[in-house]
Amino acid sequence: MPLRPPNDSEIPAGALGASIRRGHALLAATRDSLPAFAVSRLRCVSCHLDDGRRAHASPFVGVYARYPTYNARSGKAYTIEDRINDCFRRSLNGRALPVGSADMRDVVVYFAWLSRGVPVGAAVEGQGLVKLTPLAGDTTRGRAIFGAQCARCHGADGEGTAVAPPLWGRHSFNIGAGMSRLRTAAAFIRFNMPFDRPGSLDDQQSFDVASFVISHPRPDFAGKENDWPNGDAPPDVAYPTRHAAAPDTARH
Ligand code: HEC
Ligand code: HEC
Repeated sequence: MPLRPPNDSEIPAGALGASIRRGHALLAATRDSLPAFAVSRLRCVSCHLDDGRRAHASPFVGVYARYPTYNARSGKAYTIEDRINDCFRRSLNGRALPVGSADMRDVVVYFAWLSRGVPVGAAVEGQGLVKLTPLAGDTTRGRAIFGAQCARCHGADGEGTAVAPPLWGRHSFNIGAGMSRLRTAAAFIRFNMPFDRPGSLDDQQSFDVASFVISHPRPDFAGKENDWPNGDAPPDVAYPTRHAAAPDTARH
């Protein structure tokens, strides 16, 4: 079904509306609001663009109707809170929000409001990221693209600036985050970056610059070797897993 997010003007009055607004605020100012849980300099909407409304940037429209579901990375049935906490622990390099907390409730309430009218289990156009045909990335070409197209906002050393968050280094997402995988990063960049000219890079350029971005050091994620316990890790996972099916985890 179409991706049709509600407008802020449709937020109801009263306690429900206050919870929706607070959930939205937590995603937009994650680090200021939840410093103990969000350690990186990223916020949730650094990747889930337009407050979680943008197609092909893993929008939150319909996300409430997609859970509980099976999660291959953990090999478990996942609630929406489990999935939220994966992004806190990996993408924000932080800690899990207590599931019974008011903060978690507000985030879930915001997701439910954005998902209004989407039936349980239904797919929404533009959900997730686009699945590109995998290509090998060339970091030398990627470095040139980065210098020409990304550094002016993300900083010459990818460290982040006042206008854009860090792409690597100790203030960025950690190695366990989906964005540290080549295919995921390339798919995000292909349709969303440069921020002011989305869609201007072709598939190969997106893989090149993504491979350059993920070739840099970033925080570790303790226990990452336990991911994909059923041996079905995708080939672009940036670290060996204990249950890896084959030793050739080629990074493309
Ligand atoms: C560094 C980028 C990044 C940041 C920051 C980030 N996420 Fe994510 N998030 C992702 C990616 C990548 C996916 C998986 C997209 C895919 O492959 O479909 C994802 C998926 C999700 C999903 C599941 C979406 C679905 O359709 O099933 C939820 C829920 C989520 N993130 C919540 C959050 C929350 C809450 C925060 C802030 C605490 C956050 N994310 C911060 C990158 C990020
Ligand atoms: C005009 C400024 C601008 C340019 C140019 C730009 N970005 Fe971004 N980028 C942003 C902003 C702003 C965000 C976060 C959006 C938000 O917080 O609302 C972002 C987010 C990201 C993210 C997810 C968050 C993170 O820090 O990891 C990645 C990855 C990314 N950009 C990669 C790139 C790449 C690669 C290029 C070059 C091809 C690029 N960007 C060019 C402004 C820019």
